[in-house]
Amino acid sequence: MKYSGVITRYLEHLPLPKDVEPVTLLEGNTPLIEADNLRRELKAPCKIFLKFEGANPTGSFKDRGMTVAITKAVLDKAEAVICASTGNTSASAAAYAAKAGIKAFVVLPKGKIAIGKLAQALIYGAKVIEIDGNFDEALTIVREVGAKTKVVIVNSINPYRIEGQKTASFEIIENLGVAPTHHSLPVGNAGNITAYWKGYVEWKEKHGTTLPRMLGFQAEGAAPIVHNRIFEHPETVATAIRIGNPASWKQAVQARDDSGGRIEMTSDSEIIAAQRLIASTEGIFCEPASASSVAGLRKLVAESYFTGKDTVVCTLTGNGLKDPDTAARGITPPLSAKPVLADVLKLMDLN
Ligand code: F0G
Repeated sequence: MKYSGVITRYLEHLPLPKDVEPVTLLEGNTPLIEADNLRRELKAPCKIFLKFEGANPTGSFKDRGMTVAITKAVLDKAEAVICASTGNTSASAAAYAAKAGIKAFVVLPKGKIAIGKLAQALIYGAKVIEIDGNFDEALTIVREVGAKTKVVIVNSINPYRIEGQKTASFEIIENLGVAPTHHSLPVGNAGNITAYWKGYVEWKEKHGTTLPRMLGFQAEGAAPIVHNRIFEHPETVATAIRIGNPASWKQAVQARDDSGGRIEMTSDSEIIAAQRLIASTEGIFCEPASASSVAGLRKLVAESYFTGKDTVVCTLTGNGLKDPDTAARGITPPLSAKPVLADVLKLMDLN
């Protein structure tokens, strides 16, 4: 069957008219990969699956929400959209706006956006405005623009974003045949944990499946939900989740509590170690923020939180190629040889 993107695939679950013409880049339908090597490495008793959202058209899970938000904006005859972003939302908004033929404005924290994401927003043709401030300040400005103009906000405070992102839960249940017992993911502005939980709950209401416990992970330097206080100056190597006052804070806490789950934090060094481990054991290159889902899982394994009956899905939210600088930092650099066979063989050190 021809795959036509998340709107066509899950239209009956989405608040869009039946005859809608989707603005789509054929997002979704991403790989759910069983991670046996990683399981052995972590000495985890449970099954582990990685949902690689970096395989989406702009390299992150944002595309699932953006196809719905931009399609709705076009239905409403919007001429322009705007978002605040730590990078991925801006890349996705810019791409889908380009496809729709409407304008995109993006407001970014200066100097804190991974180079690949900034390049994406620019090449897709968005008007990029950097501020001397953090994501939370950018989102405050964007909310004001939304209130004062006709420009449509496409951050996850736009409910159509959440609607689109919930389709990842549907795919997981369809792939596994059941819901996992646990779902682990990074938490930044807290839209995605809200969306996954909504997806699982709606699928249960329709098809009577079980529900997973939701496990959310913030970075230690940007952990407002864990500490139950706003972080005025959030800081982490995982710039995608460098957020001190998440817009969907309440919904994330509700997802945690309704599911009997946890929201915890992982340190930058745990995040980087997990990123390398996922790459070297499973051949998947995700960005640092994404790896917090596995870093968090690792911590819970150490607490003997899981049993052999559990199945855990970790969402790898974004592609590592977006942030090559962070990946290359602190890693063994390439070896150097003269352009002759003997030198290369020597370095290969086969014996
Ligand atoms: N992982 C990645 C790669 C992200 O880009 C984000 C959020 C998250 C996780 C957290 O998801 O915000 O729904 O809790 N990025 C937003 C952005 C904030 O602007 O690209 P969340």
